Amino acid sequence: MDIRIQPSILSADFVNLEADFESISAADGIHVDVMDGHFVPNMTFGPPMVKRMQEIAKVPLDVHLMIENPDHWAPIYAALGVFSVTFHFEACKDAVATARAIRSMGSRAGIAIKPGTAVSAIESIISEFDQVLVMSVEPGFGGQSFIGSSLEKISAVSALIDLHSPQTWLQVDGGIDESNIAEVSKAGADTFVAGSAVFKSSDRNGQIRTLRDLALAAHH
Ligand code: DX5
Ligand code: ZN
Repeated sequence: MDIRIQPSILSADFVNLEADFESISAADGIHVDVMDGHFVPNMTFGPPMVKRMQEIAKVPLDVHLMIENPDHWAPIYAALGVFSVTFHFEACKDAVATARAIRSMGSRAGIAIKPGTAVSAIESIISEFDQVLVMSVEPGFGGQSFIGSSLEKISAVSALIDLHSPQTWLQVDGGIDESNIAEVSKAGADTFVAGSAVFKSSDRNGQIRTLRDLALAAHH
């Protein structure tokens, strides 16, 4: 079983990204939160910044688009050569066409659902995606608490993946830390975003390994 830990750079120092990337060299990927101030009430950066990140990153970049009109923007991020591009079901017009556009540019395609979105919404399209992202906080900000009811959604998505698309990864994002990663893994997640839990630690690579070990031990 592969378990992946992807620190979110939302908690990094945006003017020292190269040093912060180096500080998480044990990561399986770096989670890059793109926010537009419309889909979520916060704003980060756009394609020029992600382009530079892609040039300096030594581990795969996992781009999480919390933006409106992902049908237009997602392929633009994929064209930068990033490992994966995940967009929100709630924001897109044609999820399947957008997934195919991302994949045609060589990136993996992901579909994200907010805490209030039912798992059934993505059942018919899940096989078009390389990963499903279950948000375990309301998107927009780092450092929030994990929403406990996300565990049932993770189990439900895991069951859908087993049924329709066994190669699809199940990613969870929001409030993941040492106290809850085992139960999230047990519910079926294999790919874990952790922002504040990693960046607040004085030993970031040690924290990444601890999270990975806890998730691995709990996964079945
Ligand atoms: C929230 C972002 C997350 C966030 C996670 O909208 O999508 O990636 O940075 O941060 P933590 O792990 O601190 O909840
Ligand atoms: Zn995210």
